[in-house]
Amino acid sequence: MSVLRVGIVGYGVMGKAHSYGYRVAPMLRALPVTPVVSVISGRNGPAAAAAAAAYGIGEHTTDWRALVARDDIDLVDICTPPGTHAEIARAAAAAGKAVLCEKPLALTYPEAAAALAAVTSAGVHHAVGFNYRRLPAVALMRRMVAGGAVGEVRLWRATWLSDEFTDPDTPYDWRFDRQMGGTTIADLGSHLIDMALWMAGEIRAVCAQSETFIAERPPPAGAGWAGTGSGARAVTVDDASSALLRFESGALGAMEVARAAVRRPCDFTVEVNGSRGTLVFDYARLNELRYGSADDDPGLYGMRRIRAEHPSHPYAGSWWPIGQGVGYGSSFGNQVADLLEGWPDAPWTPGFGQGAAVQAVCDAMEASAAQGRWVTVSEVTGTA
Ligand SMILES: NC(=O)c1ccc[n+]([C@@H]2O[C@H](COP(=O)([O-])OP(=O)(O)OC[C@H]3O[C@@H](n4cnc5c(N)ncnc54)[C@H](O)[C@@H]3O)[C@@H](O)[C@H]2O)c1
Repeated sequence: MSVLRVGIVGYGVMGKAHSYGYRVAPMLRALPVTPVVSVISGRNGPAAAAAAAAYGIGEHTTDWRALVARDDIDLVDICTPPGTHAEIARAAAAAGKAVLCEKPLALTYPEAAAALAAVTSAGVHHAVGFNYRRLPAVALMRRMVAGGAVGEVRLWRATWLSDEFTDPDTPYDWRFDRQMGGTTIADLGSHLIDMALWMAGEIRAVCAQSETFIAERPPPAGAGWAGTGSGARAVTVDDASSALLRFESGALGAMEVARAAVRRPCDFTVEVNGSRGTLVFDYARLNELRYGSADDDPGLYGMRRIRAEHPSHPYAGSWWPIGQGVGYGSSFGNQVADLLEGWPDAPWTPGFGQGAAVQAVCDAMEASAAQGRWVTVSEVTGTA
């Protein structure tokens, strides 16, 4: 059994989730190659060392460029803030490494397109970490939509509500900075837009609104710039945004993303209404799907609760016995298993092409909110 040597850039929340994914994947599926994370990087040396020890990774570094340049690394896995993604991805591609990049792929569509061009011309494997599509119930929802369970898709709607930004005392970090964290549209919305494109097809145009309710943030403890005035920094990202969507198919969509929703931790919902049925996913009940069909017995009017835990459902059979369910972490194990199952011949999906397509919709939403008008996605991609 050969080994695929992985270097993870970033030891934070996603560095941990991805490390977990590489450990778990070989327990889920017989893979042609065994992933081994050899090195992890981060800017804070002691914290990177502690993370490496906790995640069972032999080496750590504070220099991501050194990690990318190593001859004994096959896959570079990018788990840093969005403002760093495209540069690290381009460097990894130039070094001939496979690249898995957390979402969003970049800060802007041109940056995402450049990252796509880099991995394409280097001929390396590439994927974006849209992990939620690898939850059993979400994958089942997509399979059912593609299989005609709701008929022709007419309406698609999604919300993603979090309370990350509700406390005005939450100190400034990269998430409040447009040049490093991107937008709330891209942070939360990129997952939803990925699912929209995957389930309902291309989006033609958007009409969005955005607001930043808390305009500045206090400095983090120990920040070198705390001594200047109040030390507060201006927030340059949206706290919340919403949009109407028009799909190429003629379907209508609506989407809301907010980090300003009190007592909402990470609540997202996706609903599809088709000509013959309705499907609803609610992340707070992530092993379930609600389904109603126009062909159901009228005496049973309503929606049934499908338990996406049956061995015939996507991913479910490789996890636990029916009735046990899975959690967030399962999506990262499933992600690695999906990517490595066909190694080295099968291309990865969703690749940077999807990452760039998602970014184009994010950019269209941002432009629409700024300009107060409908914006077509082709205006962003230059294909108008
Ligand atoms: N798919 C998901 O479920 C999910 C969840 C959370 C975050 N994310 C995404 O993962 C990425 C990382 O988020 P996180 O929550 O793990 O962040 P984090 O703040 O927990 O960790 C960030 C890591 O990047 C490093 N870093 C920070 N700035 C850097 C810079 N300028 N150059 C190089 N390294 C830098 C830090 O040292 C740290 O190791 C983001 O793109 C975020 O949108 C995805």
